[in-house]
Amino acid sequence: MQIRVSGLRKNFGDKRVISGISFTVKPGQVTGLVGPNGAGKTTILRILLALEFPTAGNADFGGTAYAKLKDPIMHVGAALDVDGMHPGLTAYGYLRSIAAAYGISRKRVLDVLEQVGLRSAMQKRVESFSLGMKQRLNIAGAMLGDPHVYIFDESLNGLDVEGITWFRRLMENLSKDGKTVLVSSHQMSELELFAQRVIVIGGGRVLADAMTSELLGVVTSVMTPDSSKLTDVLTSHGYRFEDVGQEFVVYGVSPSVMGELAALNGIILHGLTAKRSSLENVYKRLVENSLEFRAIETSR
Ligand SMILES: Nc1ncnc2c1ncn2[C@@H]1O[C@H](COP(=O)(O)OP(=O)(O)O)[C@@H](O)[C@H]1O
Ligand SMILES: [Mg+2]
Repeated sequence: MQIRVSGLRKNFGDKRVISGISFTVKPGQVTGLVGPNGAGKTTILRILLALEFPTAGNADFGGTAYAKLKDPIMHVGAALDVDGMHPGLTAYGYLRSIAAAYGISRKRVLDVLEQVGLRSAMQKRVESFSLGMKQRLNIAGAMLGDPHVYIFDESLNGLDVEGITWFRRLMENLSKDGKTVLVSSHQMSELELFAQRVIVIGGGRVLADAMTSELLGVVTSVMTPDSSKLTDVLTSHGYRFEDVGQEFVVYGVSPSVMGELAALNGIILHGLTAKRSSLENVYKRLVENSLEFRAIETSR
C-alpha cells in the first residue's frame, strides 16, 4: 500500500507552512522525510493521520483517506509525539489499552514489547521512562496491529547508540517484509543510515525526491579561468552547480562528460576531478538554496 500526498497546502492562520507538496511512498523501502525544524514534516504526517485538516490537497493510503480506513491501526502504524502516551500507565498497560480496543491478543502485546526491547521494563510507568524508552514504546504501539504502513516522526530522537542500531535493524526488517515506511528527521545523517529514498522539504515545497544513491550522484569539480563562459554553458544545459571562486562544483556530471562539454565550447580547464558529495552536503545545499530562493521571493 502506497502513501500518497498530493498538492498539499497548509496555512496556520495567515502563516503558510506548506505550499504545494506531492509525493508517493512505495512499499518495500524506507523513505526519509527530511527538512529543517519548522519545515512542516510533522504537519504533513498529522494531515496523513487525519489529526489535522489540509488547507488544500489530499493525503491517503492506497487511495483511502486515513479517516475512512476501517480499524486504522491494523493498516497504518504511527509513532508521532511521545507525549501522547499517558505518563501514569505502565508500558504493558499502555499497549494493552490499544490492543483491547482492536481485539489484539495479549501475546501480541508481549511480542512487540520483546521486539522493542522493553519486555523487562513492561511494568514500569511511562513517566519513569527515558526519551529513548518512550520512543521504543511509541514504536511498539505502531507495530501492534502488524500494519502494512509505518509512519515515524523523529523517532530516533533520544535513542542512544544501541537504540539507533536497533532502529536501523527494525527499518531493514520492515522494508524486507515489503512494508511501506516513512520516517521523518531534521538530520540527513540519521536517515542516511537506512533510508533508500529521501524526500527533502524546505520553504514549504519538495526540494528533492530521489533514491539516496541517486541524490549522492556524480559530482565533478572544475577549475577554469573562463568562469562566465562555463556558467553560461552549465546554465544552458540545466546542470546544478556551485561557483566557489575559481572552482565549480557540478552535480550529476562525470569528469569525462564535463571535459568534453568544455572542449566543445572552447573553455580552458585548469582542473577536472571527480568528487563524491556527502548526503549531508547535498541536503545543506538544497536547504540553503531554498532559503535564498524564499528570501528573493519575499523581497519582491
Ligand atoms: N497548530 C499549529 N498552530 C500554528 N502553527 C503551527 C501549528 N503546528 C505547527 N505550526 C507551525 O508550522 C510550522 C511547521 O511545523 P512542523 O510541522 O512541526 O515542522 P517540523 O516537524 O518540520 O519541524 C512551524 O513554523 C510551526 O510553528
Ligand atoms: Mg516535527
